[in-house]
Amino acid sequence: MAQRNSNSGIDDLKSQLNIVDVIGRVVPLKRAGSNYKGICPFHSEKTPSFIVSDQKQIFTCFGCGATGDAIEFTKRYYNLDFMDACEKLGKEYGIEINFQKSSDSKEKEKLYAINREAARFFYKALTEKANPGYTYMKKRGIDDAILKKFGIGYADREWTSLYDHFKNKGIDDQDLIDLGLVTRGKDGKCYDKFRHRVIFPIINASGKVIGFGGRRIDENDIPKYLNSPENAIFQKKNNLYALNTTKSEIAKESSAIIVEGYMDVISLYQYGVHNVAASLGTALTENQARLIKRYTPNVNLCYDADPAGISAALRGIDILAPQGLKVKVFHVTDGKDPDEYAKAHGRDAFLDLVKNAPTAVQYKLDAASKGLDLTKNEDKVEYLKLAADILRRLSPVEMDVYVRSLSEKLKVSERAIMAEIEGGSTAQPREQAPLPSVQGESELFLSSTEGNVISALITNPDLTEELFSEPDIMESDFAVKVENIIFELFGTKGEFELDDITDRLDPEESQYLNEVLGGIHLAGKEEEVLKESIKKWKLDTLYKKEKEIVARMDLADESEIDQEIIRSITEEFIRIQNDIKKYGGRE
Ligand code: GTP
Ligand code: MN
Repeated sequence: MAQRNSNSGIDDLKSQLNIVDVIGRVVPLKRAGSNYKGICPFHSEKTPSFIVSDQKQIFTCFGCGATGDAIEFTKRYYNLDFMDACEKLGKEYGIEINFQKSSDSKEKEKLYAINREAARFFYKALTEKANPGYTYMKKRGIDDAILKKFGIGYADREWTSLYDHFKNKGIDDQDLIDLGLVTRGKDGKCYDKFRHRVIFPIINASGKVIGFGGRRIDENDIPKYLNSPENAIFQKKNNLYALNTTKSEIAKESSAIIVEGYMDVISLYQYGVHNVAASLGTALTENQARLIKRYTPNVNLCYDADPAGISAALRGIDILAPQGLKVKVFHVTDGKDPDEYAKAHGRDAFLDLVKNAPTAVQYKLDAASKGLDLTKNEDKVEYLKLAADILRRLSPVEMDVYVRSLSEKLKVSERAIMAEIEGGSTAQPREQAPLPSVQGESELFLSSTEGNVISALITNPDLTEELFSEPDIMESDFAVKVENIIFELFGTKGEFELDDITDRLDPEESQYLNEVLGGIHLAGKEEEVLKESIKKWKLDTLYKKEKEIVARMDLADESEIDQEIIRSITEEFIRIQNDIKKYGGRE
């Protein structure tokens, strides 16, 4: 945001655009009071609930909630990023945009340049003379051409090789520390963060080196993979590994294969599967889904076949599908991951797996039947409840298809299955079951609410069930990670101690958690603290929703929007008011 505002070029563009014209070119609009109305291009509807305000220069859809200015519309309608949307609009309307670099983006350019230099340094170390990184990659069967294609490097065993290299160039310590390339020791001196590791540069879709993943060479080192920390230029949630190299192939084949690891991508690529990328860490995000959608609507998830991989696939489906992506899911049938499979069976066998992969819905149905014996009546009933929860969210046509096949498979009438779906059974969907702990680094931060909640649960694990009902209360990456570990421990053992949690964290993470918890004293008030935290979070969420809905009511009033919609907005408003009261707000 700050960057946009400080960029006078963008402000000029905005002031010269008229949103009614920008949208009117692709969506037929009719006058409605002081605004314009049309059929929303972002969801399917028959009666118009898409409003464009000339005065406010914004659009809002009362059906799906899409909202924003002319640039936001262009971004979404054409699947462009911010800069490309501005460029398109500038060209169409003959508006010259002077992209004045803000100090913010100059700062970023500097960090990109340092990372590029570091990547070059690591690459030279791997390619110019014999070294353990090269030997390791050879042992794993990777060709020189692939090492070059992905810019793979080596960080040596010394303590300050990279640091010295940058010192000679006059680069600030702080920049190197921010990028996670060096770390300051207790003695005040700087040391290289990546040591004796194979280095995978992470490059964004615009070709900038934004971070690094470093794999251990010595199997006794920990962690197995060390990744750059999140910083001004590296956000895991916004990027996919290797997309810079593979995006054109993904677009050309109109299909993306998403895998877990760096080595999976590289190995598949070497064996001739080029439309591949890796989520950085196991859980996919909405931003990654949008990123994929720029190149193709077809996504094949291929995660490891272990419980963590299955759980990540299930969560991945629920992130990807709502973005309109067509998702298929499969696991390799031999070996632990795509790397091992490709090595053992080659390209064609892997492509067969892709071709025969079940749809996301089928995958969920199959996952729901795990552990159940469908020849037993009670298990069949249990399964049908779970299946109904999955099918309830589908379009009528899809539902029909799956209900029919389920009916044949289970020898239960279609009518009964439909009744179960319509009856809205209360069975918990599987995805809400305890999730296995998520691997990958997260930013070390806990809000005070999150710290209190974790502290309360450690003192009194029985309270974990309370948290099951409001899992979204945890917001920071690290809190979500700890929460998942707690759910897993509680789900499998029914109890846990602080040590069980810290055992599953990196040393830095566990130190941070200990520090935070050391400063919290709940003194027997765990239950109260937990309830209060949930209440406070609920109210904050409700106030935010209330603000949004008031803005929507204003706009609806001005634009003679359908009475039916106004009624439903008003109902929602009343519901929010009631909830606020229920949670003791505003008294
Ligand atoms: P190889 O053993 O090199 O083939 O790696 P893999 O990809 O088979 O490993 P694994 O399935 O254990 O991990 C998959 C992905 O999770 C890796 O590529 C990393 O991105 C990430 N990952 C694995 N271990 C760690 C770790 O210790 N820390 C962090 N931050 N990420 C990890
Ligand atoms: Mn592997």
